[in-house]
Amino acid sequence: MKTYVILFIFLQCLLQDLCSASDSFPRGVHIAFVGPSSIAISFYTRSDAPSALPWVLIAEQNYTGTTTKSVSRYHHDVIVSDLKAGESYEYEVGVGGSSVNGFSYSPIDISSSNFKVAFVGDMGVNNSAATISALMKKHSDYSWIHHVGDISYADDASVKIEPSSGSGYDEVYDLFQDSLQDITSSTPYMVSPGNHDVTCRVTSDLGCPKQQRNFSAFRQRWRMPSIESGASTVEHHNVWYSYRVGNVHFVSIDTESDFPNAPTKPTTKIGGGAGGGFGDQLSWLKSDLQAANSDPTIDYIVAMGHRVFYSSSLTDWPLNAVKHVSSAFEPIFKDFNVDLYICGHKHFYERGSPAYNNKPVERGLVQIVNGAAGCNEGVQGEGKGKGHHLIVKGNYEDTGYGELEVREGEMVWRYVLSEGGGVDDEVVIKSKRS
Ligand SMILES: *[C@@H]1O[C@H](CO)[C@@H](O)[C@H](O)[C@H]1NC(C)=O
Ligand SMILES: *[C@@H]1O[C@H](CO)[C@@H](O)[C@H](O)[C@H]1NC(C)=O
Ligand SMILES: *[C@@H]1O[C@H](CO)[C@@H](O)[C@H](O)[C@H]1NC(C)=O
Repeated sequence: MKTYVILFIFLQCLLQDLCSASDSFPRGVHIAFVGPSSIAISFYTRSDAPSALPWVLIAEQNYTGTTTKSVSRYHHDVIVSDLKAGESYEYEVGVGGSSVNGFSYSPIDISSSNFKVAFVGDMGVNNSAATISALMKKHSDYSWIHHVGDISYADDASVKIEPSSGSGYDEVYDLFQDSLQDITSSTPYMVSPGNHDVTCRVTSDLGCPKQQRNFSAFRQRWRMPSIESGASTVEHHNVWYSYRVGNVHFVSIDTESDFPNAPTKPTTKIGGGAGGGFGDQLSWLKSDLQAANSDPTIDYIVAMGHRVFYSSSLTDWPLNAVKHVSSAFEPIFKDFNVDLYICGHKHFYERGSPAYNNKPVERGLVQIVNGAAGCNEGVQGEGKGKGHHLIVKGNYEDTGYGELEVREGEMVWRYVLSEGGGVDDEVVIKSKRS
């Protein structure tokens, strides 16, 4: 009898990658801001989690956390609090008796108005080596990194345009988080949802298990401060939230669901999956921005999201997505004086002149398309759309990422080439509050 059981497990092992059932090491360790002196430390394990609590040992304290399960992964989050800026902390992460140590983190002074942030967009496991190695070298200069959607491109594995295919959805996403661990275990990594973050198949929900639909991987693998910023009471909401660093209010929006005519709806059948129903995003956004705009200690408001309002390339799926996204968000950004909108979706770099409603206007919103960090779909050529007259700088050849520097009284945006590190664009962003 026993022999049969062992033989059965062995066959399953060969067939389904269950051989790793004995491997419960924490992987893909990453940090996110959740409060002025707190961070979430998150990681995944391939097996063995529910019988044991995830934990983080830091500053001689053992913090325990929570676990969610997807099809074949356990995702863990441990909230660590009372960290002091300027200190350097070593930490160890574990699940039960299985642990990894040697990580370190030095919290930034969240009240300082001198810092640099990196922005990446549309970054997958392929064609991203130059960007990832640039960030490996430079991440300690950045107080954190924000990814404006389309994370890993694991959903492309289903249509075999992901060259790591042969691997499934979770395996590709694992590779992505593993390859960033040396960066994300010491530099916080914040994320906004993109169209590739909706479901496990880029084509549709068809053939995608229920547990991998409706932004599940995006919500389980990351832990953003949605609860802490009053955006939701739901654990792992993640899809919209805000955070403050120094004199800047940062707000992350969901351009995929939960506004009128959003690209992803509960009824979406093709070109993505069904999703949304996380709450009233626009009401939250208005109240969040209203508070930031009337706070005299805030000098700048920066918004991050995935889809563009303006671009040389306006072709999109679903048709008219650009119009629906800009009509939902742009008037709110105008009403509450948002200074800068950083997005991606188009796999190139474009900086727009200050604009509103497709026209250049003096105190308009500066929009930056920063979607060329590198992915299997490649860097995209210049489009021939109507948005041309608004573009003041474009790059349609190189992979790159954005750098935002805030120094006493000034904010500077740069576009940095991943190969060679040259600065391809630089502009001072004017505050609408001065
Ligand atoms: C931290 O606490 C967890 C849960 O009680 C425990 O399993 C783990 O061994 C502890 N870690 C250390 C290093 O003491
Ligand atoms: C895509 O990425 C995977 C995972 O790193 C790798 O195995 C594969 O060789 C890559 N393909 C190309 C064409 O770079
Ligand atoms: C997606 O998840 C949210 C939160 O759990 C839920 O309210 C919503 O109904 C789900 N949407 C779909 C299309 O399943």
